Amino acid sequence: MPDTITITDDRTGKTVTVPITDGVFPSSAIRELDPSLFVYDPAYMSTAACKSEITYLDGGAGILRYRGYPIEQLAEHSTFLEVAYLLVHGELPTAEQYAVWQHEVTHHTFIHENMRKRFVDGFHYDAHPMGMFVSAVAALGTFYDGAKDIDSVEAQNHQILRLIAKAPTIAAMMYRFSVGLPFNQPNNDLTYPANFLNMMWKIGDYEVHPVLERAMDVLFILHADHEQNCGTTAMRVIASSHADPYSAAAGAAAALYGPRHGGANEAVVRMLERIGTIENVDAFVEGVKNGEERLMGFGHRVYKNYDPRAKIVKRTADEVFAVTGKNPLLDIALKLEETALEDEYFISRSLYPNVDFYSGLIYQALGFPTDMFTVLFAIPRMVGWLAHWQELLEQEQKISRPRQWYTGEGERNYLPITSR
Ligand code: CMC
Repeated sequence: MPDTITITDDRTGKTVTVPITDGVFPSSAIRELDPSLFVYDPAYMSTAACKSEITYLDGGAGILRYRGYPIEQLAEHSTFLEVAYLLVHGELPTAEQYAVWQHEVTHHTFIHENMRKRFVDGFHYDAHPMGMFVSAVAALGTFYDGAKDIDSVEAQNHQILRLIAKAPTIAAMMYRFSVGLPFNQPNNDLTYPANFLNMMWKIGDYEVHPVLERAMDVLFILHADHEQNCGTTAMRVIASSHADPYSAAAGAAAALYGPRHGGANEAVVRMLERIGTIENVDAFVEGVKNGEERLMGFGHRVYKNYDPRAKIVKRTADEVFAVTGKNPLLDIALKLEETALEDEYFISRSLYPNVDFYSGLIYQALGFPTDMFTVLFAIPRMVGWLAHWQELLEQEQKISRPRQWYTGEGERNYLPITSR
């Protein structure tokens, strides 16, 4: 069987044959047939918008790898900071490289005092932390002269360090502001996840529990990248205009905010609270099948199998609950999963739990309010966004500019308001 595809334009009889590589053929075939011909592909269901060497995902087989390393191995043996290095630099660090990287990230965690005094303090007292996070990431770029210097790899690496290091600081600051608590400065003696938990929770004497610190690190690893999802695509599209990485990351975070994307973990907990008891699960599932509800934390554009991250999250939940006590919503979640996985509606549509189905339960057990959940997703995903940003710049990709299928009115003449 030849690895080619032949497309014939029946209007002209013109034929073009192009290679299929890794299941992909170039859209230049269409332009070659007729430069005024376009492919209608809303939501990019069949479009590979870039080449990428960062994350491999096989949704049918339930495989996720960062730079070739299976997510299961990284979640078992690695740390978030090591994974961050891997995603950004392409290789796992040597001991020496890791020590430098850790030092550099740790020493970029502080943010300018004016960020808090002039910017954060301006928010309304009950502002949503994710709305504040999105705005703060964009605002942070205005503090750095070099933010717009995207042509220098050295400057790029500097912004990458800053954004990875400061994301937890901004997140914790937003939380402390929203509950009226004084901000805790970063503690450079702590690991990345412990520093974040410390900035979040420290009031008087506070020591991070090692099991909870590790759970936070594992959740950060699982959320670090997921190839061309909605947020990362937003990052790439904005970055393709050569906007600075702070503005692009703010756009990516805004995309993540939506309940169909990173907002799903928050929506899952709200859904479980609404269901209330195990006895109500069957009626809820019927509502989903009738189209009255959506089963949040289920289904995925790419995974048509159990999301490999969901399996790890489920295991991590057990470890966390052994320390914090079981989240009472867990039984409802387990019953919901069992019911859905046996139901023809979900089986026929290949709907399985995704990463968000159990992660919210852990966040809740760790003490995070529901409106912080998407922020917890955004902290590690910052790494993925930045790895894609740098890859895009290396590839010197043109500005993103899709076409449209115009379906509006033809030309018509303007009528004065009195004649309409
Ligand atoms: N509950 C009920 N039905 C669903 C669900 C769901 N969660 N997800 C998909 N379906 C149905 C959908 O109604 C459709 O049915 P039909 O063929 O009868 O019209 C069919 O399954 C195919 O779904 P789709 O809407 O074409 O799938 P999609 O690829 O456009 O949507 C999704 C993917 C994630 C937006 C969707 O599954 C969803 O809304 N899930 C709930 C929200 C959620 O958990 N999101 C987190 C995703 S993982 C985190 C991340 O990577 O962002």
